[in-house]
Amino acid sequence: MERYEDRIRELLAQMTVEEKVGQLHQCGPSLVGTFDVSFEELLNMMFDGRISEEEFGRIMSAAGRDFHEDDLRAGRIGSYNGVSDAATANRLQKIAVEETRLGIPLFFGYDVIHGFRTVTPIPLGESCAWDPDLWERTARMAAKEASAAGIHMTFAPMVDVARDARWGRISEGAGEDPDLTAAYGAAKVRGFQGTGLGAPDTLAACVKHFAAYGAAEGGRDYNRVDMSPQRFCEEYMPPFKACVEAGARAVMPAFNDISGVPCSVNKKLLTDLLRDAWGFTGVTVSDSNAVAECVDHGYSADRTRAARDAIMAGMDVDMASGVFSQELVKLAACGAVPMEALDRAAGDVLRLKFELGLFDHPYRSDTEREAREVMDPAYRALAREAAVKSMVLLKNEGDTLPLKKGLRLGVYGPLAASRSDMLGSWAVGADGEACVSLLDALEARGETVVRLTDENWEQGADCDAIIAAMGERKELSGEAASRADIGLPGGQEDMLKKLMGLGKPVTLVLFSGRPLAIPWAAEHVPAILMAWHPGVEAGNAVADVLFGDENPSGKLTTTFPAAAGQCPMYYAHCNTGRPGGRGKFTSKYLDAPIEPVYPFGHGLSYTRFEYEGLHMLRGQSALIASVAVKNVGDRPGDEIVQCYFRDLAAKRVRPVKKLAAYERVHLEPGEARRLTFEIPYEKLGYYDADMNFVIEPGDFDIFAGGSSADCLCERFSL
Ligand code: BGC
Repeated sequence: MERYEDRIRELLAQMTVEEKVGQLHQCGPSLVGTFDVSFEELLNMMFDGRISEEEFGRIMSAAGRDFHEDDLRAGRIGSYNGVSDAATANRLQKIAVEETRLGIPLFFGYDVIHGFRTVTPIPLGESCAWDPDLWERTARMAAKEASAAGIHMTFAPMVDVARDARWGRISEGAGEDPDLTAAYGAAKVRGFQGTGLGAPDTLAACVKHFAAYGAAEGGRDYNRVDMSPQRFCEEYMPPFKACVEAGARAVMPAFNDISGVPCSVNKKLLTDLLRDAWGFTGVTVSDSNAVAECVDHGYSADRTRAARDAIMAGMDVDMASGVFSQELVKLAACGAVPMEALDRAAGDVLRLKFELGLFDHPYRSDTEREAREVMDPAYRALAREAAVKSMVLLKNEGDTLPLKKGLRLGVYGPLAASRSDMLGSWAVGADGEACVSLLDALEARGETVVRLTDENWEQGADCDAIIAAMGERKELSGEAASRADIGLPGGQEDMLKKLMGLGKPVTLVLFSGRPLAIPWAAEHVPAILMAWHPGVEAGNAVADVLFGDENPSGKLTTTFPAAAGQCPMYYAHCNTGRPGGRGKFTSKYLDAPIEPVYPFGHGLSYTRFEYEGLHMLRGQSALIASVAVKNVGDRPGDEIVQCYFRDLAAKRVRPVKKLAAYERVHLEPGEARRLTFEIPYEKLGYYDADMNFVIEPGDFDIFAGGSSADCLCERFSL
């Protein structure tokens, strides 16, 4: 990194204030023509049903795009969000390089969240594979495909720890555990950034949303966050720190405020912690319009002050709001924003452009490479592997699953034939028609399928087995898609009850972007497969699992509550002085259980695994725990072995269980393995009341098993 500092200084010395500010302005194409309402109103019209999704798509594809070329020529634009094809990227880049005064290249950012054209499972789904190697490989694939389309930065990974299933954006991250999310984020950064940003098939990772966005009050999107500094550091920071340590070159501050200070203008976060404590030298890119929204928060009095507050706090790039571009030149002229702040911000952007090699090779792709890379068949195979590994078999009574081939299958459900819903949230570069629906896959396999509808569902009585493909359409999760009721939507449960009444074995295949509250189904339906939104290979992957060509192995990274009223719900909660129980005056609900329907770490297989012999050894700097696991069934399978700890008494109340280590193992029938986990003592530590990190001696319970709720346990004294 050091090697670019001289060149950055030289360039800054030649730049006017306007040109420096230009580097900080990220704009997107504006839509023009064919409709006479604003884009936002058009979106609202689709969401409230005044126009259909198809109509929206038609209007959008007919609309022209204005890329603000005059501003670009004048050096007023440093980067774009929303350009996703090599021809447009190169056309704009040519203007930047050949027609601006200093020829500084642009960078192009895009939301490549879970695949670009070849869409892989939503992050929450993929996290259930507990497989850093897979996470890295799918990110590498996404980087190859997206960089070929002219993109340089992805606004990913999203590493917001999320413990409230009402929050729609729970779909975009790796669930509720800080350590697992940290491992997920670091793997994604490695995959996106490859061996170094100089290679044209890489993307700079922009880690988001910094920070604690997942703790939005009430699970309502964009809402406030207020928490203790201890909790912030122990539960919400580890994933960001891990991503920065893995070399992420960009960070996106979150929309929310933390304890009253919006993240976009939060100096403690963007400067004191990120740059000074963690040594981050990359770029901070605001969330869309977030700088201007500091006025709506009631923090900055007006847009001028929002611009000053943000840049002085440590924000480099203003995405979409235009506030930097409109305000910073005059703020610099009157001395309200010192030149050092502009130089830091513009310098950060220039550094990234040097790292991406853009000054020497401004055109990192072309239409030929783009055509070669898009949806390569090998990519589809990886998408199918990822989808299979992300699925969680929640329940399987008797031998409901796997299904025998050649049965007469009654297939019901709003999601059985849907292709585009398989994409899930944030698949903005993808084509829904490229997805394989469950029905597509069953038909391609030559299965006998009877399509059951609301009218003819009695025909299910003539079938051998019934598959109910239910859950959420893709619009029900993601940004601005919080739900107060997290049950099966749209009367699906009533239909499920009717199908169960037919007396045939029913398998519920759930597609969704969040954990759903399904206590009735969990009690009555014999088999439930959580498929999430699995991506382009959805139907094939579901069929692979349903018919037993693949043995399911995913384990939940998010707790399944029985009702939205239990949220936030997560395994690593602290005890109260009156832990929930049967007694009257205990911490519980009168009308809902205290336990989840499915706990963190839960997931079944078509084989069975047994655990024995949990032993501990005191190492120099780590506790060494080992446990034996055996495949006692008759099929090969993968098991995700989990190790947890509990600090029994400390000078701060500690969680009842906390993940310490995990490993995915493959075992043939009858095969046993002893796994050894090294748990650094540091992992057992915490921040005390004065924010000192301490490792306090005392008794710890150590757990090992195949779910957070089903473990062997041994005591250990530190
Ligand atoms: C989202 C970000 C996203 C950005 C750019 C925002 O609305 O919060 O996660 O990266 O848009 O598209």
